[in-house]
Amino acid sequence: MVASPYPAPPPAAGRARRPGVWGWAAPAALIVAITIAHYTASGSTHLPHDIFRRLYYLPIILAAFTYGLRGGLAAAITTTLCYLPHALGHISHDPAAPVDKGLELLLYNVVGVVTGLLVERERREKREHEQTAARLSATLAERHELEGELRRRERLATVGELSAALAHEIRNPLGSLKGAAQILADPALPAVERDRLLAILGEESGRLDRVLTDFLTLARDRTVHRGRVDLAACVRETAALLAPDAAAHGVAVRVAGAEAAVVIAGDGDLLRQLLWNLARNGVEAVGEGGEVTLRVDPGAAGRVRLVVEDDGPGIAAADLERLFDPFFTTRAGGTGLGLAICDRIARDHGATLTAANRPGGGARFVVELEAGGAA
Ligand SMILES: Nc1ncnc2c1ncn2[C@@H]1O[C@H](COP(=O)(O)OP(=O)(O)OP(=O)(O)O)[C@@H](O)[C@H]1O
Ligand SMILES: [Mg+2]
Repeated sequence: MVASPYPAPPPAAGRARRPGVWGWAAPAALIVAITIAHYTASGSTHLPHDIFRRLYYLPIILAAFTYGLRGGLAAAITTTLCYLPHALGHISHDPAAPVDKGLELLLYNVVGVVTGLLVERERREKREHEQTAARLSATLAERHELEGELRRRERLATVGELSAALAHEIRNPLGSLKGAAQILADPALPAVERDRLLAILGEESGRLDRVLTDFLTLARDRTVHRGRVDLAACVRETAALLAPDAAAHGVAVRVAGAEAAVVIAGDGDLLRQLLWNLARNGVEAVGEGGEVTLRVDPGAAGRVRLVVEDDGPGIAAADLERLFDPFFTTRAGGTGLGLAICDRIARDHGATLTAANRPGGGARFVVELEAGGAA
């Protein structure tokens, strides 16, 4: 199971630690201490009595903070009962004016109740926030788990699809190889037939090798060695390499806009492979008398474009969507991995590869890369 990146929800409200009976000890001790000091203060000076009378607010507020309304009220009533005999002059004498003493007694209770209510309201809101946070955290964790599950399923589906396609691609040449080998086992086979079958063996095993090499190029995790790459030079070199074979099929390979160097940060080998695959597709598509053009174009601001276009039949509208899918091919003998590899190389460079039909006929493939960036 994938660990959730979200923090565990806070403990549910209600399970929060409650103050024990010891919570009463501090306010009670304060009330007792203040009362003793108050009762024993000299009755001829106001100041100590004024101070002690007001010190009673401390235990009241403390009890309200610890026990809410219950605590505030209990401490206020206790204080009232403790102070009342002193205020009335039954036990020693508080020299303050009766109205001051009466107001103070009233205020003890008002402060106890109001503070208690405020503390309870604040605690209720905190509990609600904690519950909301817990619900949110649980929802996020659930979502994260679902996303992980979805990604795993998608990966499995992709692996399944690719394996099925690969098995299909391997089965055909294997069937031919097996058939040819069985016939070759006949000692009475004429030499001409033997040569033909041996040629088939060579062709089909070469095809197997190509499918597996291409598939591994596509599937393997590889490091992109970014360095200074001159796109114009890549275009010229690819065209020069392809030209002889293209000429043998009556196809011309043209280069445009590749006179001056266009240097970017990228993997030269991979970008040449990309250009080669696109250009070879063009040569295969146009047939005798056709033309394939490789071009470096300035792109939008900060971008540069590699364009490979031809004057062949173009791409059927229904195929445009599946063009970059591994094993999609309309060519007899094609593996359908060339464009999937190109797409992977483009993405490894943070570039985009798009395919379209030219208005005047033929196909156009555009790789849009980040310009510059080379140290
Ligand atoms: N320039 C083009 N003009 C028309 N169709 C094209 C062009 N380039 C590619 N296609 C279409 O895209 C398909 C997929 O191309 P891709 O290069 O992936 O595979 P392939 O050329 O069929 O086989 P291989 O893996 O050997 O390259 C081709 O079969 C073809 O139908
Ligand atoms: Mg191809």
